[in-house]
Amino acid sequence: MSDTRVIVLVGSLRADSLNRKIAETLRDQAPEGVTVEIAENLEALPFYNEDLDGENVPAAAAELRARVANADRVLAVTPEYNGTMPAVLNNAIDWLSRPYGVGAIKGKPFGVVGATPTPYGGKWAHQDTARSAGIAGAVVVEDVTVSQSALEVDVLTDADVLAKLNGAVQTLVDFDAETAAA
Ligand SMILES: Cc1cc2nc3c(=O)[nH]c(=O)nc-3n(C[C@H](O)[C@H](O)[C@H](O)COP(=O)(O)O)c2cc1C
Repeated sequence: MSDTRVIVLVGSLRADSLNRKIAETLRDQAPEGVTVEIAENLEALPFYNEDLDGENVPAAAAELRARVANADRVLAVTPEYNGTMPAVLNNAIDWLSRPYGVGAIKGKPFGVVGATPTPYGGKWAHQDTARSAGIAGAVVVEDVTVSQSALEVDVLTDADVLAKLNGAVQTLVDFDAETAAA
């Protein structure tokens, strides 16, 4: 049987991004039978504009749509900016939400995790990301959400935190849309 493919949308473009490092850790520690890939170049996506979205979509948008369409699961790994998700992630979800009703994200089990250096760990961003992805047509797996404070712990090495984050990937992979809908 082929691996379950998880595509990751990282909500930070910063070179030293903690959330990107979390995504890389989840990729490197992916369980047997699971391939985790990071969607690169989200910064190359133009701001979503219906005028650009026709026969010839921008190459970065076409590539992202193809990669998400080919994935079995979608995971956002994101910090929080001003109480919500960073614009780069919001923009990626917008591109994935169209064409209306048949966007690449439609029907994909979707989860969100991330860390910020506050006591709340980015929970508003994570709530907003889940709501937006759900409206875009994804099947949000609420149990996956991890909003991890990076204040008093090294998120990348702490065994409990890593178990939570890796567990989130496993929960997303194990999610069975048909059972959930029954
Ligand atoms: C424009 C901006 C707004 C921010 N707003 C929040 C916020 O609302 N809540 C929060 O927990 N952290 C906020 N932060 C702090 C980020 O969570 C922190 O910089 C984090 O490390 C960014 O993630 P990264 O390391 O993956 O780039 C903000 C940072 C920036 C640059």
